Amino acid sequence: MTMMKTLKMSVAALALTATHAVAEDVEVLHWWTSGGEAAALNVLKEDLQGQGIGWNDMPVAGGGGEAAMTTLRARVTAGNAPTAVQMLGFDIKDWAAEGALGNLDSVAADGSWDEVVPDALQNFSKDADGHWIAAPVNVHSTNWVWISKSALDATGMDAPESWEDLIAVLDAMKDNGITPLAHGGQAWQDATIFDAVVLSLGDDFYKASMIDLDPGALGGEKMVEAFQRMETLRGYVDDNFSGRDWNLASAMVIDGSAGMQMMGDWAKGEFLRADQVPGEDFVCIRFPGTQGAVTFNSDQFAMFKVDEGQEAQLAMAASVMDPAFQSAFNVVKGSVPARTDVPNDAFDDCGKKGMADLADANSAGRLFGSMAHGHSVPAGVKNAMYDVITAHFNGEFSAEEAAEEMVNAVEAAM
Ligand code: BGC
Repeated sequence: MTMMKTLKMSVAALALTATHAVAEDVEVLHWWTSGGEAAALNVLKEDLQGQGIGWNDMPVAGGGGEAAMTTLRARVTAGNAPTAVQMLGFDIKDWAAEGALGNLDSVAADGSWDEVVPDALQNFSKDADGHWIAAPVNVHSTNWVWISKSALDATGMDAPESWEDLIAVLDAMKDNGITPLAHGGQAWQDATIFDAVVLSLGDDFYKASMIDLDPGALGGEKMVEAFQRMETLRGYVDDNFSGRDWNLASAMVIDGSAGMQMMGDWAKGEFLRADQVPGEDFVCIRFPGTQGAVTFNSDQFAMFKVDEGQEAQLAMAASVMDPAFQSAFNVVKGSVPARTDVPNDAFDDCGKKGMADLADANSAGRLFGSMAHGHSVPAGVKNAMYDVITAHFNGEFSAEEAAEEMVNAVEAAM
C-alpha cells in the first residue's frame, strides 16, 4: 500500500468517525419569541442538545407566523433553506406541493405516528401521496377567553356562558374602571377573535363560511351579525390597541389592568411564565357560545430538503414526537399534545380541559381548522379575509359592507 493510499484511508476513517462523534446542527426557523414561547422552545432546544444535536436559532418575531413565512420564502428563493421550520396547516401543504420538503416516512413508521396522530392533524402532516412531511408538536385552539380572576370577582358575576353574559361581564368591568378587553390591533389577532365570533354563531355557519367558502354564508345575514359582534367587542378595547403585540395584551390581564383576552392557548404560556395559576389568578373558558366545539391549529416542524444534516432532521422529528417530550413541551407552551396517547397528569386544569375538549370535539364532529391560523383555507384566501376583518375592525366598513367585501375578497383570492 502506498503512503498516499494509507493516508487517504485514514482520512476517510477519520471523517466517518467525525460524522458520528460530532453532531450535526439543525437550523430552526420559528416565531416563538414571547416569554412563554421562548420557555417552551427551551424545552425543545435542551431535549435536542441532550442528544448531541446542535441548535442554530432563526427566530422571526410576529404572532401567527406571517413574517416568518415571508423570511422563509426569501431564504428558499436564495437557495438557502433552513433545516427545520415551524409551520401551520395549509403552508405545509403548499411547500410539499412545491416538492421542497423531505420525507419523514422512516421515523414515522418507527414511531407508529399513523396510529397516534389524529386524522385532522395527519391531513396537514402528509403530502398528496400520503408521505409524512411534517412532525406535529402540538395542538392549539383559538376559541378561548383568558379572564383575570380578580377582575371577574370584582364584577360579582360568574364566567360568561353566552354572548349576553359576556357583554354583561364586559360592561361591569368597564364600570369598574379597567379596560374590559385586552387586544392588540394586528390583522392576525383581529382574525383570531373573528374565528371565535363566527363559531359562536353556529358550527354550520363556521364550516360553510370559513372552510367551504360558500358565498351565501360569506355574504349573508349571519356574516353581518358576526361583524356586528366584532364592532361590539371593539367598543371594549382601549385606545392604544393599534399594533400592540399579543403578549403585551396578555400582560394587561396578568397585571389586572384589563379584564380578559380572547386568544389562542399560547396565551396561557404567558400567564404561567408570570407564575399565575389557573382557577386562582386567571380563568380559562371557551368563547361563550362555542362550548363543545374547537377551532384548532397545530404547530408542525417541516424539514426542508437540504444537502447536509438529514440525520439531525430525522432525529429532531423523532424527538418532537416522543410522548414524554410532547408532555413536557406542551405543559409550558399552553397547547396540548399532538398524540392521543399522552397522559394528562402533568397538565394544569386548563390543559386538562384543552385535552378533553379536543377529544370530545373530535368525536362529535365539532373540530374545525382555524381560519386565523392557517388551518381552514390556503394563505392567499386567509390574507384576503384578514384584510376585510381588519379594515372593518378599524371602522373602514360597516358590517353590511364587510360581509359584501368578504365575498369579493375571497373570490378574487381563489
Ligand atoms: C402558533 C403558536 C404561537 C402563536 C403566537 C400561532 O400561530 O401556532 O405556536 O404561539 O401563533 O405567536
